[in-house]
Amino acid sequence: MHFLYNLFKFIFYIIFLINSISCYVPSERAYHNSVIIKDRLLIIGGRKNSTQSPELFYLDLSNSFDNTNLPWNLIREGDLPINTYSSTAIVSLDNSTIFLIGGYIKNKSTLDYDFSHQVYTYDYLNSKWNTPSITGDSIPTRQQMTGVIDNKGTIYIFGGFNITNFTTLAGKVYNEMNTLGTFSMSWKTLTVTSNLPPLSSDYSANILPNGIIVYIGGQANDTLVKMKNIKLFNTKKDEWLYMDAIGDDVDPRWLFASVLTPDGRIIIFGGCTLNLSSVNPKLAVLDTNKSPYEWSIPSSFQVNSPSIYGHTANLYNNHMIITFGYDMDVQMYNFRVYLYDITNNTWVTRFDPSLPSTQKSSKSLQIGLGIGISLVVLICIAIFIFCKKMKMKSQILEIADSN
Ligand SMILES: *[C@@H]1O[C@H](CO)[C@@H](O)[C@H](O)[C@H]1NC(C)=O
Ligand SMILES: *[C@@H]1O[C@H](CO)[C@@H](O)[C@H](O)[C@H]1NC(C)=O
Ligand SMILES: *[C@@H]1O[C@H](CO)[C@@H](O)[C@H](O)[C@H]1NC(C)=O
Ligand SMILES: *[C@@H]1O[C@H](CO)[C@@H](O)[C@H](O)[C@H]1NC(C)=O
Ligand SMILES: *[C@@H]1O[C@H](CO)[C@@H](O)[C@H](O)[C@H]1NC(C)=O
Ligand SMILES: *[C@@H]1O[C@H](CO)[C@@H](O)[C@H](O)[C@H]1NC(C)=O
Ligand SMILES: *[C@@H]1O[C@H](CO)[C@@H](O)[C@H](O)[C@H]1NC(C)=O
Ligand SMILES: *[C@@H]1O[C@H](CO)[C@@H](O)[C@H](O)[C@H]1NC(C)=O
Repeated sequence: MHFLYNLFKFIFYIIFLINSISCYVPSERAYHNSVIIKDRLLIIGGRKNSTQSPELFYLDLSNSFDNTNLPWNLIREGDLPINTYSSTAIVSLDNSTIFLIGGYIKNKSTLDYDFSHQVYTYDYLNSKWNTPSITGDSIPTRQQMTGVIDNKGTIYIFGGFNITNFTTLAGKVYNEMNTLGTFSMSWKTLTVTSNLPPLSSDYSANILPNGIIVYIGGQANDTLVKMKNIKLFNTKKDEWLYMDAIGDDVDPRWLFASVLTPDGRIIIFGGCTLNLSSVNPKLAVLDTNKSPYEWSIPSSFQVNSPSIYGHTANLYNNHMIITFGYDMDVQMYNFRVYLYDITNNTWVTRFDPSLPSTQKSSKSLQIGLGIGISLVVLICIAIFIFCKKMKMKSQILEIADSN
C-alpha cells in the first residue's frame, strides 16, 4: 500500500512538472525568422539590442488560444549552433528541414561575428542542427535578404547586404540571384545579365504558384523603393520583369513582412522609414490576380493596428500571425503576437487553428482529451484517498495491537 501511495504521489508531481515545463516565456526580439511546420510556428534567432540567444521555440497552433496567453514551447535540444539575426529561413518541401541562410552570424561562445558558414540546416524530426556540405558556386556572405522556395525545391535568394565594417556598419549591396537546390545541395549564382534590378536589400519576397517571385519595397541605391515599383523574377525562365502596380498609395518601407494568401493576395504589414519612423498605411493588400497588380487598403485595417518593424508574418489558415518586432509607439522590443483574420480583414485576439469545416473534429478531439485527462486525475485522487485511508486503518490497527 505504501508503495502505491508513493507511486501516485510521484505521478502527481510528474503531471505538475509537465504542465510547468510547457509554459515557456521567450524574450522579446526583432530581426528574427519564423517558419511554420505542421502546426508549429518556430522562431529562429533575432536580437534585442545587442543581446542574442540561440533558443529554438515554437507557438503551438494545434489548439485555440488567446493572444494574451500564448502557448509557447521550448525545444530543449534545439538550440541553434550560432547566434544570428537578419537572416532568412526556408522550410524544405517535405517539412523535414529548415534552411537557415546568411544573416549577422556570431559564434555563441566568443560572441564574435563568424561568417565562415552561411548555411545551417535543422533536422526537424531529430531536433538536430547541421552544417551541411554544399557543392557548386561559392556561397556569398549576405544579410538583410529573403529567400523563397519553388515547387521543385529550389531556394531563390536575391541580392542583400554584406557588412564590411562593423564599426561604421558600412557594406555592399547586391543584385544577383543565388539559388540553393535543396535536393542537390548545390549552390548556384545565376548568370542573368539582362534587365538586372538595382542593388537591393530588405524587400519582401513571395513566390506565386506560377513560379513568379514578387519582390516588394525595401532599399535600393540607399533609398526606399516605391511600393508600386514591383520587381518580378520568373523562375521558369530565369528572367527579370518589372511592373507598375496601380491602386491605393502605400508608403515605401523596409523591415516589414508579407504573406501570400491562397487566393493570390499579398498582405504586407508594418515596417518603417529609413530613419525608423512609422509608415502609412500599416497594412495593405496587393492583388496579384489583377493585371497590373493592384494595391488596396482594407477599411478596417487601422483598428488596433500596432506600429512595429523587424517582426515576422506567417499565414496559418485564416490567420496572419505577427510575432515580436520593435514597437515604435512605446519604443520597446515587442513580446506580443498579433493575429489578423484574412477572411474579414480584422485584427482579432483569439486564434482558431481550423477552417470552419474542420473545426468540429479538432473540437471533439479536445473534448475527448479533456475528459480522458480528467478521468485519470479523478482515478488518481480516488486511489490517493483510498491509500491514505488504508494507511490510517493499518495505523489504527497497529495502535490497537500494541494496546
Ligand atoms: C508542411 O507544413 C505545412 C504547415 O502546416 C502544411 O500546410 C503542409 O501540408 C505540410 N507539408 C507536408 C508535406 O507535410
Ligand atoms: C537598448 O537600447 C536602447 C537605445 O539604444 C537603450 O535605451 C536601452 O536601455 C537598451 N536596453 C537594454 C536592455 O540594453
Ligand atoms: C566558436 O569559437 C570557439 C573558439 O574559437 C570554437 O572552438 C568553436 O568551434 C566556434 N563555434 C562554431 C559554431 O564555429
Ligand atoms: C563580405 O564581407 C566580409 C567582411 O565582413 C568579407 O570578408 C567578404 O569578402 C565579403 N564578401 C563579398 C562577397 O564581398
Ligand atoms: C571602418 O571604418 C572606420 C571609419 O571609417 C575606419 O577607421 C576603419 O579602419 C574601418 N575598418 C575596416 C576594417 O575597414
Ligand atoms: C544607383 O546609383 C548609381 C550610382 O549612384 C547609379 O549609377 C545608378 O543608375 C542607380 N541605379 C538606379 C536604378 O537608380
Ligand atoms: C524621417 O523621415 C521622414 C521621411 O522619410 C521625414 O518625414 C521625417 O521628418 C523624418 N524624421 C526624422 C526624425 O528625421
Ligand atoms: C472577423 O472574424 C472573427 C473570427 O471569425 C470574429 O471574431 C470577428 O468579430 C470578425 N470581425 C468582423 C468585423 O466581422
